[in-house]
Amino acid sequence: MSSAQVRVPDLRQKKLAGEKIAMLTAYDATMARLLDRAGIDVILVGDSLATVVLGQPNTLAVTLDAMIHHTAAVARGTEHALVVTDMPFLTYQVSVAEAVRNAGRLLKEGGAAAVKLEGGRPVLDVVHRLVEIGIPVMGHLGLQPQSVHQLGGYARRAVEPDEAAALVDDAVALEQAGAFAIVLEAIPSTVARAVTSRVGVPTIGIGSGPDCDGQVLVSYDMLGLFEGPVPSFVKQYANLAATVTAATRAYVDDVRAGAYPPTRSTVSSPSTSLGAGTKP
Ligand code: KIV
Repeated sequence: MSSAQVRVPDLRQKKLAGEKIAMLTAYDATMARLLDRAGIDVILVGDSLATVVLGQPNTLAVTLDAMIHHTAAVARGTEHALVVTDMPFLTYQVSVAEAVRNAGRLLKEGGAAAVKLEGGRPVLDVVHRLVEIGIPVMGHLGLQPQSVHQLGGYARRAVEPDEAAALVDDAVALEQAGAFAIVLEAIPSTVARAVTSRVGVPTIGIGSGPDCDGQVLVSYDMLGLFEGPVPSFVKQYANLAATVTAATRAYVDDVRAGAYPPTRSTVSSPSTSLGAGTKP
């Protein structure tokens, strides 16, 4: 595990060196610190914040202020990983000027190193301008959750040859506009492989097979913490929902039985989560 800070140009170097890129989402400082300590390369403050943390039905309602708030928390918890944050729906589609202002806030107030936005040719002018003024942009092609209503759901994309060809063209156009990496969501592995060999920037797959330059998952899905339906491609490395529920049950039982706290407390200092020196 490297202790050096990951920076935007490092991702292209990793592609050139054939080193896979590991990326996960986080939404708060505690989780960011754990992922960072485990050696993750990129932490994405996804607009999945809406569904995973805020209990919203899709990603459309999450606000720029909420993304800034959570991005700042993640940035405070991160020492090594590259922090990338999603531009929420309607913060980059209205005009280039608005996109610049909103992306700038995510860097200035949120402390992100880069932004991610969904789409190909329709957003090229925004990508080009952001990169021109020094804001690194990660693209996102294939399934674009911000278009859920137009798509009618979250089905796989680029299954038909014409859509697959258009996606490859979009990826090339994003690279030409200056995107430093491209997320490929829910597309056939053959299409992901084609994109990965056509572009010089790294591709980061989610549900798009093994041939991308890196992989991303929603951390709550892969840790078994989010109890909603999990996509079939997700490997669950833990079942934290069960751990949290069992620990909470044990605590509830102890409190009700008078077993916690013990009558003669052995706890001599306040919880570190309250901060050093905090009075209980
Ligand atoms: O919002 C998100 O979590 C994402 C990932 C699924 C790539 O965009």
